[in-house]
Amino acid sequence: MKTIDDLQVAGQRVFVRADLNVPLDGETITDDGRIRAAVPTINKLLDRGAKVIVASHLGRPKGAPDPQYSLAPVARRLGELLGKQVAFATDTVDESARATVAALGDGEVALLENLRFNAGETSKDDAERGAFADRLAALADLYVGDGFGAVHRKHASVYDLPARLPHAAGELIAAELSVLKKLTEDVKRPYAVVLGGAKVSDKLGVIDHLLEKADRILIGGGMAYTFLKAQGHEVGRSLLQEDQVPAVRDYLRRAKERGVEFVLPVDVTAAPEFPDLKTKAPANPRVIAADAIPADLQGLDIGPETRKLYASKLADAATVFWNGPMGVFEHPDFAEGTRAVAQALLDSPAFTVVGGGDSAAAVRILGFDENAFGHISTGGGASLEYLEGKTLPGLAALED
Ligand code: 3PG
Repeated sequence: MKTIDDLQVAGQRVFVRADLNVPLDGETITDDGRIRAAVPTINKLLDRGAKVIVASHLGRPKGAPDPQYSLAPVARRLGELLGKQVAFATDTVDESARATVAALGDGEVALLENLRFNAGETSKDDAERGAFADRLAALADLYVGDGFGAVHRKHASVYDLPARLPHAAGELIAAELSVLKKLTEDVKRPYAVVLGGAKVSDKLGVIDHLLEKADRILIGGGMAYTFLKAQGHEVGRSLLQEDQVPAVRDYLRRAKERGVEFVLPVDVTAAPEFPDLKTKAPANPRVIAADAIPADLQGLDIGPETRKLYASKLADAATVFWNGPMGVFEHPDFAEGTRAVAQALLDSPAFTVVGGGDSAAAVRILGFDENAFGHISTGGGASLEYLEGKTLPGLAALED
């Protein structure tokens, strides 16, 4: 894989595919981590006299312009971080994009509007994606892939465009890969993995793979309730993927066979209703034993005993990978589980990797110093699929 040092970028139009898919509350960016992570590559290219065209997706618009997914707030924040004007094209490949790119001088930067405003970006049809990639390619001379968070997507700007231009990997992708390799090659043991988030169906592939690699797997978040159900417990109104119960039972059986320790919550913080994340009104939380969740309550976080248990399981690990919050951390009544795992990672001498949009955002939103962690990945799905050993389209496309 070439790096940007292998490209002659001075005076060239360089297309940088970043992942600037940040959480927004209206027009307010609630976590700018991914924008900050994109800055080193952009700065390096600007310093070398490139005309830099940055492009990204944001959210999941339906292949047509949708103002709530505009990258305009991101252009403003990127400009603040770079300390220079970022020209903003209000479309992706049409008049505004062409005029904006044509006006760029050496060492100047533009951001295109959300790539997913064009149906060709995410199309499953190779020809439709290819046609969009052709139009993107017409804007630039060189391609730099740096959107690590999107490399698992076979999308036009990630997969098809690099085939059309001389290309290289940016600094973020290089940094992410060098860290994730430490989780797949010669991993230091004990290797503990903490998995959370809402749906167990999103994590099946990685759990399957980790059963062969990890020594301990700690489960939290919404997906924990499907595990509790698979152990024969009732989970009341908690999130449950009933159709996944057989698969989860099978994982628990295989873990036992292989001597992998599966650690599940022993208590949960529950409430009658899902909390209001806007008003953050008190949600009447109660701590309940994980095997006795009443029919009228839903588990929304791991409980205090589980926090202690998980901290003890992380204390003597040599390597830790964490993906997915332990509860509804956006509400103060259900943030303590996620906070406790973050703190346990900080207290542990292990090599720690925080993977993922949500867990990375949680660490910052809860006020932790992100520099104190071994590595905070910008990729959620991407880091999981990398750990699964899958071929990631956006990385394959950057191979020479
Ligand atoms: C992410 O947030 O994981 C990436 O930006 C990819 O977004 P997507 O899941 O909408 O493709």
